Amino acid sequence: MARYEIHGGNPLNGTVTISGAKNAAVAILPAALLVSGKCRIENVPDISDVRIMMDILEGVGAKILVSSDGTVEIDCSGVQCTRPDTELVRKMRASYYLMGALLGRFGKAHVALPGGCNFASRPIDQHIKGFLALGAEVDETAEYVALTPGEEGLRGNRISMDMASVGATVNIMLAATLIPGQTIIENAAKEPHIVDLANFLNTMGARITGAGTDTVKIRGVNALRGGTYAIIPDQIEAGTYMAAVTAAGGNVLVQNVIPKHMDCITSKLQEMGARVINYDDSIRIIRTGKLRQTTVKTRPYPGFPTDMQAQVCVCMALANGVSRLTESVYETRFFGYCTELESMGANIWINGKTALVTGVEKLYGSTVCAHDLRAGAALVIAGLAAEGTTYVEHIHFIERGYENLVEKLTALGANIRRLED
Ligand code: EPU
Repeated sequence: MARYEIHGGNPLNGTVTISGAKNAAVAILPAALLVSGKCRIENVPDISDVRIMMDILEGVGAKILVSSDGTVEIDCSGVQCTRPDTELVRKMRASYYLMGALLGRFGKAHVALPGGCNFASRPIDQHIKGFLALGAEVDETAEYVALTPGEEGLRGNRISMDMASVGATVNIMLAATLIPGQTIIENAAKEPHIVDLANFLNTMGARITGAGTDTVKIRGVNALRGGTYAIIPDQIEAGTYMAAVTAAGGNVLVQNVIPKHMDCITSKLQEMGARVINYDDSIRIIRTGKLRQTTVKTRPYPGFPTDMQAQVCVCMALANGVSRLTESVYETRFFGYCTELESMGANIWINGKTALVTGVEKLYGSTVCAHDLRAGAALVIAGLAAEGTTYVEHIHFIERGYENLVEKLTALGANIRRLED
């Protein structure tokens, strides 16, 4: 299997351009199922999760044209199949958006349960609660979810979610866009990609308000028309490069970002000693001195993202003093990378939802294994900051979500290459 070889110790300098947001792209591409006509979607990242989603959509009959500049033209007018390929669906998490999108377009769907990064138990009860509230009949087994219209048909409804789930908010928005009546999602997730999905759907003619607040209202429309839309920059990819500079040192301009989306990450990296300068759509991050300990608790947006937990842990591992890192979204996420970091010399003590990270002078190169996407990104950062050579294995996880990682880091002066086996 392919792996990364990283000779650590080089500070990062130069400019990196952030790609379109993975978690927006994997919601917006299936949303095209709701559109009668051609959608031109720009800034689509070339990553394996996006490629799998496009394969799934082509499998149900979508016509897709991908350009080398990240533009995807997708026409789902001819789609008739409501049962996407099981093998492909199991390759990624966000394939569960096929449920909402197919239910919204055809009133029925038969979708295998998703795969993807299994760093925690990831139930979909809130998605199901939403579909039921919209009038669907749900047949859920250990293998698949089948949705059909209930006796009274599909109609808008008020849904109060038990937790602010990103996936359930997206799925309910997708399902509700074309069904009659008004749907109100209370305790909705507020992540930037929820707003991006709403903006995409509204550009195509949907009537969605409140995205980005905890109450999203969707007034069903008869049809959506084609159009052009550009996906937002990836908050987590940007945060990952910022954490890499914080850990390895250097001076990097991170361009194509929405600085507001980065505030929760920026303020923690500043507390640790990084200097951050915000511009309109770029951020300069500089780290020269020693890092200081800090306290981080992951929370839904606008809090510190769970998808940045592992990357900030690497910074903590190199900071003076004892940092406290608390996970409040996915309790078991530490297990994906802390042991690997310890093999590089990190000092981490996990007690339930909290990790106490005692900073060490140096990390040392080692052979480590990525267990999920963000854990893998953290190990790359650790390798960049470490003394000696690090081999990161299972990089297919990393390539789910980071476009041209090796090329982008190499351009910043990192000594990293992808070894094929
Ligand atoms: N939850 C439930 N029931 C549900 C749905 C969620 O109990 O029906 C719980 C989860 O177990 C978790 C919390 O609610 O404790 C939040 O889960 P959420 O549904 O918000 O997460 P998700 O939609 O499965 C998305 C991202 C993840 C990211 C989380 C949290 C996508 C495709 N995935 O997952 O991204 O960690 O939100 O922000 O948008 C990643 O990019 O590496 C990644 C894992």
